[in-house]
Amino acid sequence: MVEPGPTSEELEKILTAGIRVPDHGKLFPWRIQVLSSSAQAALGDYCAKLYRSDNPDASEQQLLTEQRRPGQAPLLLVVSNRITRGHKIPESEQYLSGGAVCQNLLNAAHALGYVGQWLTEWPSRDNRVRSHLGHPADSEMIGWIYIGSCETPPSERVRASLDDVVTHWESPGTEISA
Ligand SMILES: Cc1cc2nc3c(=O)[nH]c(=O)nc-3n(C[C@H](O)[C@H](O)[C@H](O)COP(=O)(O)O)c2cc1C
Repeated sequence: MVEPGPTSEELEKILTAGIRVPDHGKLFPWRIQVLSSSAQAALGDYCAKLYRSDNPDASEQQLLTEQRRPGQAPLLLVVSNRITRGHKIPESEQYLSGGAVCQNLLNAAHALGYVGQWLTEWPSRDNRVRSHLGHPADSEMIGWIYIGSCETPPSERVRASLDDVVTHWESPGTEISA
């Protein structure tokens, strides 16, 4: 993914679409953090430092990969979820609402002519990165959504066919089996 990324006007549209999701119980469990280029570069410096401290034998190439990881597209949206435990709305539904945010962000970006990718590489699961980004300890990063322009169209991957995943149920009758 390459420049240009969305303009600030387009970003607002993407974010607006992002949070227009089904949200059982109106809990708003999700948050979106916007990282533009300079923030992505700063985060990359931090990730590379962590990686070096965890992997003292890391090569310069590996460190460069880690430094560049958060900046692999012009825009990075960090989507996190903070689940209300013990609530009557099941935790799974709160997670799913966050997933819908991620998908809506992607759809909106694509609708505006950009490309996007939902990734959860190691930094998104690292508590030190979470804390560095200022997220509460009981929140979870569920998607790093990268958005930019398409330089080289990606090769298509294996997709499920409708026949693989769709069935049509017919009632076998209403008798209750023992
Ligand atoms: C929650 C989640 C996390 C993902 N994390 C990664 C990842 O870390 N690395 C990766 O290569 N693909 C990951 N994917 C898959 C990509 O988002 C995506 O499906 C793939 O790049 C193909 O994109 P497309 O389906 O839009 O063609 C993840 C998908 C989901 C739903």
